[in-house]
Amino acid sequence: MARLTWHGHSCFLLETDDGKRILFDPFLDQNPVSDIRAADIGDLDFILVTHGHADHFADAISLAKRTGATLVSSFEIVSFVQTQGVENAHPMSIGGGHSFSFGYAKMTPALHGGEVAGDDEGKYTTMAGGWWLDLNGGKRLYHAGDTALTMDMKLLEGQVDVALLPIGDNFTMGPGDAVRAVEFIRPRAVIPMHYNTWDVIKQDPHAFARAVGELARVVVLEPGGSYEF
Ligand code: NI
Ligand code: MN
Repeated sequence: MARLTWHGHSCFLLETDDGKRILFDPFLDQNPVSDIRAADIGDLDFILVTHGHADHFADAISLAKRTGATLVSSFEIVSFVQTQGVENAHPMSIGGGHSFSFGYAKMTPALHGGEVAGDDEGKYTTMAGGWWLDLNGGKRLYHAGDTALTMDMKLLEGQVDVALLPIGDNFTMGPGDAVRAVEFIRPRAVIPMHYNTWDVIKQDPHAFARAVGELARVVVLEPGGSYEF
């Protein structure tokens, strides 16, 4: 079984069937709802970063340095982290995919902002993205990142087993648009993310689950909680 553990906001640890440990959007030490600190995350093989905002990227550089994990993100974000002493990094761009030891990862579009936190000179503005993973063994995962609802999500229809979708509203799509995203994608299971970190993105995930209804199984996690698939 593969296991996804939610550490609050958009930070998930994925442990694959073949034992790879992949961390999405590290935001732990400054995350008001995280169950752990960055120091407690353990070994990592990969760090996948959807975009450069601090609430997705804050612990990425320090964790990449400490664990030696390969940081995978946009060309611009990877260029920036290389100036900060990260040695193992792999640049990609939206629409492109690459085969890694855990399987195939494609960077998906996201409609969102492109600032890179920590780049004080503003040289590394980037496109926000998400991730579609086709893991060894055939399980497919979509981490939407921060995004509006887009018609592009229809392209994922029937190709996702587990979708991680933001529902917080304000900075990303809210619950209503996230239900439409489920209609577009038709994943088997959905895990809501990017809500209840702060008051401005306060949502009731169980109301979202009721709104999704029979379209997909909605898995509501608490920080520290896991889902196996
Ligand atoms: Ni963002
Ligand atoms: Mn965010």
